[in-house]
Amino acid sequence: MGDDPAPDRDRAREKYRRLASGYDRFIAGAAGRAVGFSRRRLRAVATLDLAPGDCVIDVGCGTGLSFAAIEERIGPHGRLVGIELSPDMLDIARERVRRHGWTNVTLVESAIEDADIRVEADAALFCLVHDIMRSRPALDHIVNHLKPAARIAVLGGKTLPHKAFPLHQVSRRMLSRYVTTFDGIEQPWTLLAELVPDLRVRASPYGLTYLACGHLSPS
Ligand SMILES: C[S@@+](CC[C@H](N)C(=O)[O-])C[C@H]1O[C@@H](n2cnc3c(N)ncnc32)[C@H](O)[C@@H]1O
Repeated sequence: MGDDPAPDRDRAREKYRRLASGYDRFIAGAAGRAVGFSRRRLRAVATLDLAPGDCVIDVGCGTGLSFAAIEERIGPHGRLVGIELSPDMLDIARERVRRHGWTNVTLVESAIEDADIRVEADAALFCLVHDIMRSRPALDHIVNHLKPAARIAVLGGKTLPHKAFPLHQVSRRMLSRYVTTFDGIEQPWTLLAELVPDLRVRASPYGLTYLACGHLSPS
């Protein structure tokens, strides 16, 4: 695991207690648009290749910024399960679900590692969840609740390699707001790649975000 500590769930809960009220404004607003988050989020959901009736797990769903794009594809007969550690982030997700009148969304307040997941899903989305990407127990737990050959998509932040100083430092400072560990921060997908044999990873032009997608092996 290198010198960086493991993800810290208590610190994450505390971080997102403070960040929750401004999260959507920052990530989906002007700052997020500047780094292309909204566009890349839509691309991540699109790579899941969802069909009406599909069941999707939004892993670390936060305030539910990906819900509309998922709902548009799965329709009223699909199912969306959002799992989130922070009660403050989840309150906003709950309000979003109420506002849109979605009746096929289940929200679970829990660390992924311990979540009571009552579905076998067709797809899983990991959007901006570096801490979860660096928790092998969390990844194992999700994979155990996916159908064989389920689709997986990841949108995440990363830093540039150390040798790219000072850009490395700038990217690290940007991410520090949202993560509790820098473990694996140059290649955050490596633990998932052990579980998803055909994981394809594409970094954004400046190397500050990545999009990864793949399938579980058919059993
Ligand atoms: C940057 S936010 C991303 C939220 C959402 N996926 C999005 O795309 O906007 C990271 C989220 O991961 C959640 N998180 C971190 N560690 C977690 C864990 N072990 N289990 C569940 N959620 C976790 C945080 O509480 C936070 O809401």
